[in-house]
Amino acid sequence: MRKLTRIAAGAVLGTSVVAFSAQAQFSKPDSAIKYRQSVMYVQQVHMSRLGAMVNGRAPFDQAAAEQNAAVVEQMSRLPWSAFGPGTDKGRTNALPEVWKDRAGFDKYAQQLQEVTMKLAAAVKSGGANAAKGPFDDVVKACDRCHDEYRKD
Ligand code: HEC
Repeated sequence: MRKLTRIAAGAVLGTSVVAFSAQAQFSKPDSAIKYRQSVMYVQQVHMSRLGAMVNGRAPFDQAAAEQNAAVVEQMSRLPWSAFGPGTDKGRTNALPEVWKDRAGFDKYAQQLQEVTMKLAAAVKSGGANAAKGPFDDVVKACDRCHDEYRKD
């Protein structure tokens, strides 16, 4: 019951919930780490499926491509609030730089959200040809952040 109330309160507060510390959103730091890793993983699965179609390794299916791009766009908004204080230790591959240089990390996170939005729009309006450039931009946005903020 308590949990339900908290979820309901979160829904009402909407975006302001993002400002809370990880402890407020997740029961423990491990849960936050697992959450962000899961989101990243889902993102990668759908990027691979879309990439296969965009780069001609799989037949281009407009509806499936749009779905994959929409998932990537959605996922790109989710991980960041799970990098809260106290989630820098444990089973994480995030480098300490995430917390030392939060502005830089947040900038890359913002850029990812922008390029995934462009990718989703390109897939919708122009199919495989239009998606190729934006797809590569998303891959670059993933790699750029991993190079600086993730252990390889
Ligand atoms: C702003 C930085 C940033 C961006 C952008 C970013 N990532 Fe990540 N990613 C991370 C960090 C940090 C980790 C390590 C998380 C951890 O272990 O706690 C990670 C981890 C991962 C993992 C490993 C997950 C696991 O199971 O441990 C995958 C897969 C991944 N990212 C895929 C992607 C893909 C695909 C994109 C682009 C669509 C992307 N990431 C964009 C920072 C980023």
